Amino acid sequence: MQRVLAVAVVGAGAAGLVAARELLREGHAVTVFERSDHVGGTWAYDPCPDGTDLLASGGAVHGGSSMYASLRTNLPRELMGFSGHESLAGRVFVGDPRAFPSHREVLAFLRAFAEESGVARHVRLRAEVVRVASPPGRPVEEEDRWSVAWRGESGEVAVEVFDAVVVCNGHCTVPLVPKLRGIGKWRGKQMHSHNYRIPEPFRDQIVVVVGLGASGIDIAREISQVAKEVHIASRGNEHRLGKIDLYLNVWMHAEVDCIQDDGQVRFAQGAAVTADTILYCTGYRYHFPFLDLDDLSVDEDNRVGPLYKHVFPPKYAPNLSFVGLPVKAIPFQSFELESKWVARVLSGRAALPSEEGMMAAVREHYRQMEESGKPRRHTHVLMPEWVEYMDWMAEQVGEPRLEVPRREMYERALECIWSLDGGYRDSWEEGGSGDTAS
Ligand SMILES: Cc1cc2nc3c(=O)[nH]c(=O)nc-3n(C[C@H](O)[C@H](O)[C@H](O)COP(=O)(O)OP(=O)(O)OC[C@H]3O[C@@H](n4cnc5c(N)ncnc54)[C@H](O)[C@@H]3O)c2cc1C
Ligand SMILES: *[C@@H]1O[C@H](CO)[C@@H](O)[C@H](O)[C@H]1NC(C)=O
Repeated sequence: MQRVLAVAVVGAGAAGLVAARELLREGHAVTVFERSDHVGGTWAYDPCPDGTDLLASGGAVHGGSSMYASLRTNLPRELMGFSGHESLAGRVFVGDPRAFPSHREVLAFLRAFAEESGVARHVRLRAEVVRVASPPGRPVEEEDRWSVAWRGESGEVAVEVFDAVVVCNGHCTVPLVPKLRGIGKWRGKQMHSHNYRIPEPFRDQIVVVVGLGASGIDIAREISQVAKEVHIASRGNEHRLGKIDLYLNVWMHAEVDCIQDDGQVRFAQGAAVTADTILYCTGYRYHFPFLDLDDLSVDEDNRVGPLYKHVFPPKYAPNLSFVGLPVKAIPFQSFELESKWVARVLSGRAALPSEEGMMAAVREHYRQMEESGKPRRHTHVLMPEWVEYMDWMAEQVGEPRLEVPRREMYERALECIWSLDGGYRDSWEEGGSGDTAS
């Protein structure tokens, strides 16, 4: 018999919305808690977090979106929808001749998805989950249930009990900032990409961009249009050090070695520069402030563990799960597959191995990482195994394997991102046809 559970979903971003849809489809009763006043999570651009000057606030942390003004997706629109919403996508998304939509359009898509899938009715806005616990010493009949404490608009905290909790609180909110050697001698500005919005404050500056992920590349390119010089510092970059041909004022360096006594930034391969700003594009930390569990933690290397397939903590499975943790799989599609899996496991239509079986799989994953020399901090980076991961997940829920054209499209997109040439995106002016959807 199929089990119907009362399930709490934490967060109404892309992951929480599709998780809720899949849970509802599977017959569960769903409540989505969202601390902000909107669905769509990180795609809601916030021009001025906390109302503070972005440079003055330096590395200040705000709880909001990490989107910058000019952001357009780095994946083509075909890779950013959910199944079954082709008609919806036709209106807001696919069919628009522009390949790489703006953040506004993605937000419009997610809002429409929430409405048309019926999920919106189950979302409680301005409801922040402050604690998820399976407290000891409860009445026996509540033994296996989870209590969710949440704070509403009035500031009061209420507690509700659920059979299961799916955590979808996103992971691009708490900046990961490396402590550079000698940083005490730095007299310039420091900032994390979380707070980056527009290039203008960097006009005529010399900027050191630390980190060469998707954001680092995008932002370095944008800043180079107004800055005097942009110096990118990154590891694993040895094959392309020096000035970049595509740009007049962008240099690639090895990682930062230290801040020298004279305040210059020294790179590992010799050169040093005097700079105005260090801009960290060094990613984010997983952060679950509402969870305090003995057998689940985030360690210094940003490893969330133990987690079976990045979704289920063996000790608390199946009633506690995470959707959207992995990096470098097609995000929206992997959120959907993980969500389907969680929904089916909760209803009993898919089965998990025993707790010991899941722990053994986790240990095996860690062992393989070590063997291949993959650093711990890349525990949830699904490179190179992303196709295998998505196909495995699809198999669990009876979906077809990833189609080859989609796979190639994603691989091509990643190559484009790494090429540092912004020209892969088609160009168009903001405010065009597809942008009016909301
Ligand atoms: C700058 C940038 C560019 C990106 N570009 C792309 C791209 O081009 N293509 C792509 O596919 N992906 C891109 N991504 C990845 C993007 O993060 C994912 O696509 C996706 O939006 C993540 O969704 P999520 O639901 O996991 O997290 P989020 O969108 O962060 O949503 C999490 C939600 O949880 C809420 N929340 C958090 N804590 C609580 C709590 N305690 N109680 C209640 N609610 C809570 C938050 O308010 C938020 O609404 C980009 C990310 C960034 C930062
Ligand atoms: C999960 O929740 C269901 C419904 O409350 C319960 O019957 C089951 O025992 C729980 N499972 C675990 C492992 O706690």
